[in-house]
Amino acid sequence: MCGIVGYTGFQNAIHILMDGLSHLEYRGYDSSGIALEKDEINIFKASGKLVNLVESLKKADDDKLDAKTGIGHIRWATHGLPTVENAHPHTSSTGDIALVHNGIIENYKEVKSFLENKGYSFKSQTDTEVAAMLIGYEYDIHKDLKTAVEAAIKQLKGAWAFCVMHKNEKGTIVATRKNAPLLIGVGEGENFLASDIPAIIKHTKRAIYLNDGQIAKVTPDLIEIFNPDGTIAQNKVEVLPFEPMALSKMGYKHFMLKEIHEQPDVVRNILQNKIKDEFSKILLSDVNLSEKQLKDINRIQIIACGTSLHAGLVGKYIIEELTGIPTDVEPSSEYIYRSTIADKNTLVIGISQSGETADTITAIKQVKEKGSHVLIITNRKESLLARLSDSLLHVNAGIEVSVAATKSYIAQLMSLYLFAIYMAETLNKSADKVQEIKHELLTLPSKLEAVLSEGMKIREIAKKYSSFKNFIFIARGINYPTALEGALKLKEISYINATGYAAGELKHGPIAMLDETMPVLAIMNKGLVYDKVMSNCEEAFARQARLIGVANHIDDKHKAIFNDYILIPDISDLVSPALNITVLQLLAYHIAEYLGKDVDQPRNLAKSVTVE
Ligand code: AGP
Ligand code: GLU
Repeated sequence: MCGIVGYTGFQNAIHILMDGLSHLEYRGYDSSGIALEKDEINIFKASGKLVNLVESLKKADDDKLDAKTGIGHIRWATHGLPTVENAHPHTSSTGDIALVHNGIIENYKEVKSFLENKGYSFKSQTDTEVAAMLIGYEYDIHKDLKTAVEAAIKQLKGAWAFCVMHKNEKGTIVATRKNAPLLIGVGEGENFLASDIPAIIKHTKRAIYLNDGQIAKVTPDLIEIFNPDGTIAQNKVEVLPFEPMALSKMGYKHFMLKEIHEQPDVVRNILQNKIKDEFSKILLSDVNLSEKQLKDINRIQIIACGTSLHAGLVGKYIIEELTGIPTDVEPSSEYIYRSTIADKNTLVIGISQSGETADTITAIKQVKEKGSHVLIITNRKESLLARLSDSLLHVNAGIEVSVAATKSYIAQLMSLYLFAIYMAETLNKSADKVQEIKHELLTLPSKLEAVLSEGMKIREIAKKYSSFKNFIFIARGINYPTALEGALKLKEISYINATGYAAGELKHGPIAMLDETMPVLAIMNKGLVYDKVMSNCEEAFARQARLIGVANHIDDKHKAIFNDYILIPDISDLVSPALNITVLQLLAYHIAEYLGKDVDQPRNLAKSVTVE
């Protein structure tokens, strides 16, 4: 699920593999390894961070490291502890074949017993070793690596990106994928493989994306691609969108802090050329729905996971408010396993930063079979999900390196505002509110800058609260998802137990937990639900909870109940989530940073979750 790099060419493979892996570290991982092909296959592995692999390579025999072809891997364990034995590459029984794998082999137990019955034994607990052994078994029959891989994947179920080498097939890497990302970087006299662009962008800007089930045979001078039926495929060579600069921290201590500070520009970027002013109609050429199709839409379903799901929840409020079209939001993983109701008049919106999230991909594939129009909101326009879309809203936030999503969330919110406005304008609805939101959106970047300038104050508050073990976040209405997202951010990077609640729900159970050890963070916007949230704050105060307020206004008479509060610029309810979440991102960041946590790569998390 984590990251793969492959190289075959004229340069020393090890440098390219190690550098490539370091550029995939942001995806979150627990162990790493490389295999180099020279006369033999030599394998080097380590548990933990990549520096451990660097250390073990220092002890290796120079001759073994001098190879021009190799594959590398950082692992996010699905089967078996993150130990050296379980780290990739895995080998066939003879050690002649090396395999790296991202994903999951669902039927590994069946395949393992098949192989055990044939006398094979296993060194690791992984599903991947089973695939390596199976490829070895097929190689003994076919004596050709590509044919062996082809035969093996026919027997496997699950998701994979595979890169495989055989010691007798010099300079060759065979690669294939199903529901997991893998691209081929095209060079001159050298070629590259990677699960994501940052691993190879230094070396080439040209790439070929493999489709599900295709197999590629890659040598320094030739890339042959085969369709699942064995015919030769002609995938086009695409130009990669990234600049190497995007991967620099630009002086910030962490990528997360840098990405939070990019938010004003992310908003400017996405609104530019789309909203001219509050009076002109929005320009959204990426929506491939005719006016008639748009008018026929009678329900909207939003499917997403994690932070993207929270963006979807905000989207529901905006879409229903502006268009009156009933909108449901559901985690992709829940959507997949029930009978859902969707047809050609249902618009399904899939939201995903990475465009690689397995649950969302499966859900979207299901929906497409029902004939619904699929609109994808993603930060990666070259991703699998983008390729499944009927309409694509590229949020264009730039690469997000920190595992905890921040700027992509704001960008997803912007896309949802744009889309809701577009629908409302097409349906001739809510003209006044549309005008108000446009005005608010256009002033948002400078308000975000004002919030960012409060960074030091937020840092001081963060220090005060960093020793607490639990937190409750409350809000109502359109900021209820902000409470969920704020709590998620804190959990993800500080490992503090934080839960978001609809403020009105506090008295229906969670209030039992309140005392001086349980801080309550309340998000209030002077608008529809302000007084109600304030009453919930009074209830919490009465139970001696420490109160932190995040608001655009707090009445003087109420200030005394708050231990701390952070005031944001004045903003309308409907656009306030973008501003409020920025405060909560900074708060989570500073708490985690103060506690010395690994902010950009929190434990157990991966940037792209390519398994269900
Ligand atoms: C965000 O901070 C999380 N790491 C995680 O919840 C993430 O939002 C989720 O896995 C969905 O990812 P996606 O947006 O790439 O689909
Ligand atoms: N399922 C494999 C394992 O646990 C691959 C995990 C990954 O994608 O990193 O080893």
